[in-house]
Amino acid sequence: MLQDKVAIITGGAKGIGFAIAENFVAHGAKVVLADIDAEHARESAAKLGGEGIALGVACDVTDADAVQAAVRTATDEFGALDVMVNNAGITRDATMRKMTLADFEAVLDVHVKGAWLGTQAAAAVMREQGSGSIVNISSISGKVGMIGQTNYSAAKAGIIGLTKAAAKEVAHQGVRVNAVQPGLIRTDMTAALREDVWQAKLAEIPMQRAGEPEEVAKVVLFLACDLSSYMTGCVLEITGGRHI
Ligand SMILES: NC(=O)c1ccc[n+]([C@@H]2O[C@H](COP(=O)([O-])OP(=O)(O)OC[C@H]3O[C@@H](n4cnc5c(N)ncnc54)[C@H](O)[C@@H]3O)[C@@H](O)[C@H]2O)c1
Repeated sequence: MLQDKVAIITGGAKGIGFAIAENFVAHGAKVVLADIDAEHARESAAKLGGEGIALGVACDVTDADAVQAAVRTATDEFGALDVMVNNAGITRDATMRKMTLADFEAVLDVHVKGAWLGTQAAAAVMREQGSGSIVNISSISGKVGMIGQTNYSAAKAGIIGLTKAAAKEVAHQGVRVNAVQPGLIRTDMTAALREDVWQAKLAEIPMQRAGEPEEVAKVVLFLACDLSSYMTGCVLEITGGRHI
């Protein structure tokens, strides 16, 4: 599906990002794992086959220079940038009563500013190539709004607006921009949830189970490759039917 294509996955050291990278490599891609945890990114790249297949680089997605550097790594080391996955993410959950401005800004920065910087930098290269696919990782929290997540829900809804506006700007240049909204997926991010919160979320899911990172990765592969060649500005939900 992605033979000899080159992809960057931000936040690719673990969780959903790593599962996306693993699936891309299985389908023939070369990948750059751009993560704030450089050590983990390098270890994960080694697991994917190391040199010539996967590279782990230090990248804080809120830092424009670091994002540019990650894009240069892809073009210098692998010769192109065909797929950009803006996946890096954090949570700082608290009700508004307790949430600090710093918690609000940190989440908006990583998700909205990070996805914007990644989209902008990738689109600059893809536009010249005349082709490319950008996939932004939103969340079902950006569709419905979650208690304790005024920062995260705002950020994930913001990513949808960004995706649709960017999609319109670059469509005529052969570049597609889409987003996914995962629901409850089993990663370190959700392992931090209290047991009663986890159970309450599970109860809302028609398929009666959490999703696995690989199940998000399959949908991202679809958006990354030519199977979705006539789709842009779309938002696909990966939720087991939750909040439909
Ligand atoms: N797990 C879920 O249920 C779920 C649901 C919906 C959406 N998402 C989204 O999927 C994405 C991946 O989440 P996950 O569950 O795999 O989380 P995770 O915590 O397992 O992994 C997140 C990765 O992002 C990296 N990261 C954090 N801040 C960064 C920064 N500033 N720059 C670069 N890298 C950074 C981390 O080092 C880590 O490797 C996030 O955008 C998250 O919001 C997750």
